[in-house]
Amino acid sequence: MSGVARLELDGTVYELPTYVGTEGERAIDISKLRDTTGYITLDDGYGNTGSCRSAVTFIDGDAGILRYRGIPIEELAGRSSFVETAWLVIFGTLPTVEQRDRFSTLLSDSAMIDEVMRKHFNAFPQSAPPMAILSAMINTLSAHDAGVTQIEDDADMERATAVLMSKVRTIAAASYKASIGEPLVYPRYDLKYAENFLHMMFSVPYRQFEATPEVTAALNLFLMLHADHEQNCSTSTVRMVGSSKANLFASCAAGVCALWGPLHGGANVAAVQMLQQINDSGMPVAEFVRKVKNKDEGVKLMGFGHRVYKNFDPRSKILKKSVDEVLAQLDKTDPLLDIALELEAAALEDDYFIERKLYPNVDFYSGILLRAIGIPLEMFTVMFAIGRMPGWIANWKEINDDEKSRIYRPRQIYVGPTGVQWQPRDER
Ligand code: SDX
Repeated sequence: MSGVARLELDGTVYELPTYVGTEGERAIDISKLRDTTGYITLDDGYGNTGSCRSAVTFIDGDAGILRYRGIPIEELAGRSSFVETAWLVIFGTLPTVEQRDRFSTLLSDSAMIDEVMRKHFNAFPQSAPPMAILSAMINTLSAHDAGVTQIEDDADMERATAVLMSKVRTIAAASYKASIGEPLVYPRYDLKYAENFLHMMFSVPYRQFEATPEVTAALNLFLMLHADHEQNCSTSTVRMVGSSKANLFASCAAGVCALWGPLHGGANVAAVQMLQQINDSGMPVAEFVRKVKNKDEGVKLMGFGHRVYKNFDPRSKILKKSVDEVLAQLDKTDPLLDIALELEAAALEDDYFIERKLYPNVDFYSGILLRAIGIPLEMFTVMFAIGRMPGWIANWKEINDDEKSRIYRPRQIYVGPTGVQWQPRDER
């Protein structure tokens, strides 16, 4: 707590306490506002509202800063694997050798889903959206292993975390296999997190898929960059659901649904579809930019803009560099990358985007990286969900560990009809 804010309402001056976080962010604590003034605040989209105090991730949107538990994303990129980063995000510090080994074993031991659960995949239509399957099957996990919803101590939390993180990978790969009519592939005990996922995605009974070190490193980087991002739409959803004391799996299944939207995690698919459309139509980039600026056409530059970043999204810079490296390592080219680079250059010089502080976000280059490592388009948002799982788990844990946490229950301002009388049906 620090200073005081003064608010004058209807001739009365009220004093509201202010709060400063460890990175200097300032807030007016309005937890007593309604009781003392009868007023509530109104903030469509919560652009100015802090829903919680959190120690997991810090973002400075103006400076383009992203830190997990105080460590800049640039320091983790290329040094910490996704699994190590997940431990940092969830449990607060980089894992010791013993913690890392214990967690790695838990992940390997938890990779398989039981045979009854595998049968669900025969019931989904082949056209079923993978995000629908992912959300449904994460919830179903707790039906097949009720123990993971009883989290009483750190050991329970580690096991539930490992079950969720490990099996979300198996479920995702199984949803892909089911969608292309191939047999589901069992995980291998000798493979680490990213390699095992790629094995389950691309191996077939008569040929094992062996991921190259470059592809494995690129997937680890992609997942690590998506691990958490403060109170974004899907993480706030997980906190909302978790605040009612719903279990970890139900809360993260809800997070998958929020992430699915094209304005959020679905943007990595929409960004590649946009680039593909420009490429296939042969439309000059300048013409597409004109369409975006001419709002009537409702065309957005997908992968651009952000509620918080009013500067470059640091993840986008790292992904852009990784795309270049991976394509070179794999001796591949991608015309969509050329279009993306041209679009970015055009937007960064155009007042329309500059005035609105629209820069590439995490989704602008991530889809091109996923294409380079062979992930099919319909799995892009699922990849985002696998990457974001540690952040969802960390935020659920933060609420669950806080004995003072309360159920999320925002207020509203009613603007509907008043004084309406009931009428018999023949008089309506
Ligand atoms: C993610 O919150 C997170 O942290 C999310 C995320 C995470 O890691 O969890 O970072 C992941 O979701 C990244 C964002 C992915 N979404 C997209 O790329 C979709 C395209 N972007 C936009 O829809 C938009 O930028 C949002 C949704 C990301 C942010 O929307 P805001 O903050 O509500 O901004 P806004 O819609 O009020 O836009 C402000 C202005 C408007 O113009 P004016 O009315 O002022 O004239 O900017 C314009 C908008 O029309 N604008 C865009 C644009 N984004 C905003 N114009 C063209 N193309 C865009 N992409």
